[in-house]
Amino acid sequence: MTKLEKIVLSYSGGLDTSIILKWLQETYGCEVVTFTADLGQGEELEPARAKAEMSGVKDIRIVDLREEFVRDFVFPMLRANALYEGQYLLGSSIARPLIAKHLVGIAQEVGAHAVAHGATGKGNDQLRFELAVNALDPSIKVIAPWRQWNIRSRMQLLEYAEKHRIPVPSDKRGEAPFSIDANLLHTSTEGKSLENPAEVAPDHVYQRTVDPVDAPDTPEIITIGFERGDPVSVNGKSMTPAALLTELNGLGGRHGIGRLDLVENRFIGTKSRGIYETPGGTILLTAHRGIESITLDRAAAHLKDEIMPRYAELIYNGFWFAPEREMLQALIDQSQAFVSGEVTLRLYKGSASVISRTSPCSLYSADLVTFEESAIAYDHHDAEGFIRLNGLRLRSWAARNGR
Ligand code: ARG
Repeated sequence: MTKLEKIVLSYSGGLDTSIILKWLQETYGCEVVTFTADLGQGEELEPARAKAEMSGVKDIRIVDLREEFVRDFVFPMLRANALYEGQYLLGSSIARPLIAKHLVGIAQEVGAHAVAHGATGKGNDQLRFELAVNALDPSIKVIAPWRQWNIRSRMQLLEYAEKHRIPVPSDKRGEAPFSIDANLLHTSTEGKSLENPAEVAPDHVYQRTVDPVDAPDTPEIITIGFERGDPVSVNGKSMTPAALLTELNGLGGRHGIGRLDLVENRFIGTKSRGIYETPGGTILLTAHRGIESITLDRAAAHLKDEIMPRYAELIYNGFWFAPEREMLQALIDQSQAFVSGEVTLRLYKGSASVISRTSPCSLYSADLVTFEESAIAYDHHDAEGFIRLNGLRLRSWAARNGR
């Protein structure tokens, strides 16, 4: 094993990374710097500081990344209307490259040659962390304790915790918690009974949305303002990216919007079942499609829709910092130059529906679509020729088939 002088650990203060901290100190006998990111997971971060201190960590970094997360990661992804496998809003996938970026930044600052993370050897997150580190600083080594140590199960993990007097958390019901990953965009819950896709998820897995059945009986009408593809205001009030997403999470959560029970295909080749709650993100996706509907040219919109699954897959698989993602991003960003205006939505029992949209850059021409007499250049005879030529090959085909 190469001698390392310092390791920067992505540290949540939870059970897994507390054990990893101890294990790194014992295994490498070197200084560990902890990095805890506030991504709006809605958890107190000071306990993480106290725990790191107790484990003898001298350099403890706790950084509020909420604005950077939403402005530089969530919003660019939203411009693409990105969904993995048609449904997943990529809430965990998009947070990893940001964490990796800061791990690398701190490592460079303190002269560490390695970073460590607590993702297991079975999931997607290890790829997202490590591919990002590779892309940002190839000289940095990545330590993934879950792939190195001989702890092979949750049971053995608990035994290790007991032996080293690391407190083991339990949920409100006194049971071992689910595997949860939360940030301003979503809460993802996996593991335990959810590992059986035939098993209905119990109500208590949901953390930030009410059951649509229990949502208010009166709908709520909201207006979201967009500028160049990004949301900038709610009900006429300008907000920073993180404040805006926080506001929509509150509204969406109250109306039971953005729940998803999904079996997805992981990059490593397995399937996985998880419960996602993405209230604000779900509202934003609907609203963004609403404003694009009047401001994007048809071919531009359809091209975006063609590349979207590819773009989403790149993010899911961990290729945020990769040339092909950046190329697609440039294309998407260029398409957004005129995606400005306002969208009004109705939030009601689990759904967010567009009910009106306006834009100073609208391509919608009332005069062109009207059923009444139209003043400008639409000649009905043009439609006749257009149909005749489009029908030409169909008439040949039908004649050959003997119809
Ligand atoms: N399956 C999701 C993804 O790959 C979430 C992963 C993290 N979630 C968790 N509960 N550990 O993006």
